[in-house]
Amino acid sequence: KAQKRTDYKAPNFTATDIDLTFTLDDTKTIVKNVTRFKRLTSDAKAPLILNGEELKLNYLKVDGINYKFKETKNGVEIPSVPDEFTVELENEINPSANSSLMGLYKSNGTFCTQCEPEGFRRITYSLDRSDVLAKYRVTIIGPEYGCGVLLSNGNLIERGTKKNRPYAIWEDPFPKPSYLFALVAGTFDIVSDTFTTMSGRKVDLELYVDRGAYERGLWAMQSIKDSMKWDEGRWGLEFDLDNFKVVAVDFFNFGAMENKGLNVFNSVYVMVDPTCATDTAFYNVQSVIGHEYFHNYTGDRVTLRDWFQLSLKESLTVFRDQEFSSDVANRALTRLHAINVIRGPQFAEDASPMAHPVRPEEVMEMNNFYTVTIYDKGAEIIRMIHTLIGESRFKKALNDYLHKYDGQAVTIEDFLCCFEESAGVDLSQFRRWYTQAGTPHVKASWTYDEENKNLVLKLSQHTNPTRDQQVKEPFYMPIRMSFLDKEGHDVHPAELSSDGYIILNENEQEYRFTLDRDTLPVILRDFSAPVKLDAPYTIEQLQHMLSFCDDAFIKVDCATTMQNRYIHDNLEIAAAQSVLKDPAELIASYKAILDSVDSQSDLILINETLKIQSIANLMETFDKINIDAIKYAHDALETKVAVSLVNEFVELYGKIRALSANYSVADMGRRAINNSALHMIAVAKCAMDKKKDASDIVLNHYNSSKNMTDKLQAMTDAVHLDLECKTEILKSFEKDWSKDALVFDNFFRVQATVPNKSAIDNVKKLLSHPSYDGKNPNRVRALAGALALSNPVALNDISGEGYDLLCKQISALNDINPSVAARILTPLLSFRRLDEKRQGMILNNLNSLMQMPKLSRSIYEKVSTALKE
Ligand code: ARG
Ligand code: ZN
Repeated sequence: KAQKRTDYKAPNFTATDIDLTFTLDDTKTIVKNVTRFKRLTSDAKAPLILNGEELKLNYLKVDGINYKFKETKNGVEIPSVPDEFTVELENEINPSANSSLMGLYKSNGTFCTQCEPEGFRRITYSLDRSDVLAKYRVTIIGPEYGCGVLLSNGNLIERGTKKNRPYAIWEDPFPKPSYLFALVAGTFDIVSDTFTTMSGRKVDLELYVDRGAYERGLWAMQSIKDSMKWDEGRWGLEFDLDNFKVVAVDFFNFGAMENKGLNVFNSVYVMVDPTCATDTAFYNVQSVIGHEYFHNYTGDRVTLRDWFQLSLKESLTVFRDQEFSSDVANRALTRLHAINVIRGPQFAEDASPMAHPVRPEEVMEMNNFYTVTIYDKGAEIIRMIHTLIGESRFKKALNDYLHKYDGQAVTIEDFLCCFEESAGVDLSQFRRWYTQAGTPHVKASWTYDEENKNLVLKLSQHTNPTRDQQVKEPFYMPIRMSFLDKEGHDVHPAELSSDGYIILNENEQEYRFTLDRDTLPVILRDFSAPVKLDAPYTIEQLQHMLSFCDDAFIKVDCATTMQNRYIHDNLEIAAAQSVLKDPAELIASYKAILDSVDSQSDLILINETLKIQSIANLMETFDKINIDAIKYAHDALETKVAVSLVNEFVELYGKIRALSANYSVADMGRRAINNSALHMIAVAKCAMDKKKDASDIVLNHYNSSKNMTDKLQAMTDAVHLDLECKTEILKSFEKDWSKDALVFDNFFRVQATVPNKSAIDNVKKLLSHPSYDGKNPNRVRALAGALALSNPVALNDISGEGYDLLCKQISALNDINPSVAARILTPLLSFRRLDEKRQGMILNNLNSLMQMPKLSRSIYEKVSTALKE
């Protein structure tokens, strides 16, 4: 049943104009659809085949006449039609019964839509494919009560009341594919503003939020204006409509959606204020608002020929949103987050049975391909192109691309050709990044050639086979480099170009640099290629780079590498649960950093350097995963660092505090390091038999701050370390927030992520909490989703109860919401990396999922792929 990329066929027909009239009703919405079609190919016999899913067809006419047609499982087929004609039809849908949240559905009383990738066919019959671009005119007739706001894409043509029902007519001047269609109807608070574009046009901005939540929308509105300004300043891209609307809804399958001129958001990426949302939430709102806004060019104006090209718009837009966050928030933090996504979930995906190239070859259910590979590895590929050609040529090429293909549906190949031509580069070998799945391993070594005064660097690359592809050809990658002398000064050998990178594009290569002996090569600055690097640095060399290198990634990576070495060196001892030695060098480096911190330091970067890696990212440094030993070693490492440096952390905790409870990048840094200190103090006190002290300080932290970042840190430490204050904090949080679903998700998530077996019981218990709702994806992600995706320890508990619980939730969700079900299934697919006992338990669960009646395509594709290997 899988579709192949190479099977693409241009459509026989296109739609040019689509006129829709919605008569909204909870259970019986009537859609009248008048579409003008045009034959594109010379095949005069080709029938018109329209997609339709779960629709009830009332009538269908061609040019006003009752034509012969047949209803099929997937829509309707009209055998003989003229070259140009109009189809008029009417169908019914039931938004209230739509729990999959694809198509038209109800979210807490609001009518809203999600059409990407193939949801439009659940609204009305259409050529529901991304290469059919039409102009839309949309009339919405609301129900008598409850829908004061009626929205669709484009410009408002008319609004009023007819027969006691409100109505509105919208027209979108830009032709678009059906996946960018949107409709929203409901009652909202509206945050309004305006933006004047660089050419002086005034754009009306409107942000629609829940009634009573006006204040929580202000940051998102600011972010819209910042996005518009930034896209003009950095790339010269100016907004193209007279109005731009963003709506926040409570029921949403993913983050947000870039519908032309009418972005629809998961409310979690809109609604923030300092008392209810963390600094990270503020940062994320800005980034996601940016992402969707930037799609207006990279996605909407230039769209996709077919879904195999998804990365074309997503990777480019992720790259753009990362650059936005880098410019307006913090570059190092943005880069380090992005790298963590690659080195955690993306490496895991590349090592899993669902590994796929950034441009996949075969897809059964498109919803399964909105992945960290398509999005984030894709963005790393765009970043490599940016590295290779530099900012100014990149900017020119992007503009050439947007200009050349404006209003068209194109491919990754079109994009690459355009960049090649515009920037004058040859990307032929580089293209393998789009066609080969799997993570390249790069090995480095170096020697000194006394005779020629040369540092001789050897790099080699190797990529393991993936299920879909046995043989891998070498990738073309830029390796950013610098060199440090013994004093820690940068030295620039003549052989290194001023761009500061070398190219690795063979299985093995040698590079010579004229340098003094004892000069240290710094390899893969800024994580210039998404690879696993293995370089034989000594501990002293890592410490040297940590002290003197000016690259944020290298600094943090030196600390991470020291942690990894410790964990790997001690894994056997950890497996036997024996006593581990101290990570003395790491502690020494950390002490030096802590001793020198003051309010002038780069607190965000220092905090990232001090962080003990997550267990999830640690797991990706192993092929076979011994989860118990990794957890044991991880905890030992953290405890030893905390205990050895407890005085330093206490001092830091007292010294660095946020100046205000509000969000700002500077205070985000202060709070981050202050909260890390709190965490380390609590860990240390617990290990030192002073659990009561830990509880007191954590409780005080909770009570004395008005900021959610602080409260959440305190609650997390109380719950994860099982402190005495746990009950009090949970009670207080519950009292304050149980009626505020978004905020209350923290209550669920914190308890679902306790890094031991008790998380399983917590989840079981919380599933019947009055504030839980198994149909809301945010709630699911906060409980079962958190257990699956953010708690490898509890999920993989040797009792097998984690697997059982997760699979029970997945099978319940199979009928309710298959996309969410398939998403939280992901970690189980990699069962072959675990021990036999766990493999067996997961296999049993996967096999019983396969036996489910009415198994959804999304779950079938993933499970069957995993079982095949
Ligand atoms: N295009 C949206 C975005 O990344 C996401 C849509 C996700 N759709 C899906 N079926 N998973 O901005
Ligand atoms: Zn996107």
